Amino acid sequence: MQGKTVVVGVSGGIAAYKAAGLCSALVKEGAGVHVIMTESATRFITPLTFESLVKTPVITDIFKEPNPAEISHIALADKADLFVVAPATANTIGKVAHGIGDDMLTTTLLATRSTVLFAPAMNVNMYNNPIVQENLHRLRARGYLIAEPGEGPLACGYTGKGRLPEPEQLMEVIRAIFRQKQDMLGLRVLITAGGTRERIDPVRYISNDSSGKMGFALAETAALRGADVTLLAANVQLAPPGKVRLVPVESAQEMYEQVINRLPEQDIVIKAAAVADYRPIATAASKIKKNAERINLELVRNPDILAEVGARKTAGQVIVGFAAETDDLEANARDKLIRKNADLIVANDVTAEGAGFGTDTNVISMVRRDRPTRSLPLMSKREAAERILDEILEIRAERT
Ligand code: PMT
Repeated sequence: MQGKTVVVGVSGGIAAYKAAGLCSALVKEGAGVHVIMTESATRFITPLTFESLVKTPVITDIFKEPNPAEISHIALADKADLFVVAPATANTIGKVAHGIGDDMLTTTLLATRSTVLFAPAMNVNMYNNPIVQENLHRLRARGYLIAEPGEGPLACGYTGKGRLPEPEQLMEVIRAIFRQKQDMLGLRVLITAGGTRERIDPVRYISNDSSGKMGFALAETAALRGADVTLLAANVQLAPPGKVRLVPVESAQEMYEQVINRLPEQDIVIKAAAVADYRPIATAASKIKKNAERINLELVRNPDILAEVGARKTAGQVIVGFAAETDDLEANARDKLIRKNADLIVANDVTAEGAGFGTDTNVISMVRRDRPTRSLPLMSKREAAERILDEILEIRAERT
């Protein structure tokens, strides 16, 4: 981050203290850091803490110009290579989403043309409030980046979503933004994520534990690297990444139709979704009553979407599948690679600590034809996504 200027906006929440750790990490990596605090943020942590860490004056008041030769909010807005708002309160998010600039932080945010990353942190019920969600959606639609808050115990006593990610997690996002190589510019990428639902009746279904985190990390990372991304999301509760075309689907059959219809215009297809192999032979039109002691549920095979994509693959396309395995990881992944005519299988041992379903991390191995398997250590799904995309670009480069 040498030579980069990062403006850190701190708004008033208990997580404001974590912004000090973030500033310290940014300085350590060579960034020039400027801090803007809202008046409420100064109630949680003093400007002096930030000034000691970043060695530049902290600005809190729009009418107190530290340098009369310039207008601070415009100068900072222009200087920023990246603007990070951490923590971003519901209030600051709401103001920017509606074009309100009534303090130093929000006016500078409105004036900047740099990339802006909001890291929301608040009470779980505030975060889930449809108004806040709508405001986040507005910001995303305008190209602002949002770092998903973490889940866990909150300072307010509740447990749920709303924690500011730890400084190191935010640093990972920031590094990814600066690393943005734009090396996928012009590439059309289709990604599937989540777990399909196979309806038994209007209120019951067969599904699996996929949260969609792996597929969403891939979609967000590919978009940041310049790709034109379509994300087919099966039953995912995550906020959609910015600059991504999101298409919700429910069942394997719906996913199959969407994938096959869109296949001809894709350069890359990545199938991170966990697709049900079987579905009930028929879906009952109304709720099945519990009259019988025992009932049989007859299942039929779903289409194997990846195999169908592999069969239709054209010369320029790169097709990537995942393999969720509990044993014989490499052998099973290699078998899927050949059988489904994929170019790469990303294998995850879903029994390993920190790997597979629902976690923020993964342990992956990349299995390709005619070369030894590349096994990677435990890393965040975002970092894993970067490595998978690097591998895909390597496959494309080798072809040409
Ligand atoms: O979503 P997360 O909580 O982040 O979890 C991530 C994950 C564990 C779901 C992901 O990393 C993963 O492993 N996804 C693939 C899970 C899976 O279905 O694996 P499989 O071995 O059953 O299938 C192999 C491949 O064929 C997959 O690419 C799958 O999308 C595809 N498939 C499977 C069946 C089917 N009918 N059609 C398919 O296209």
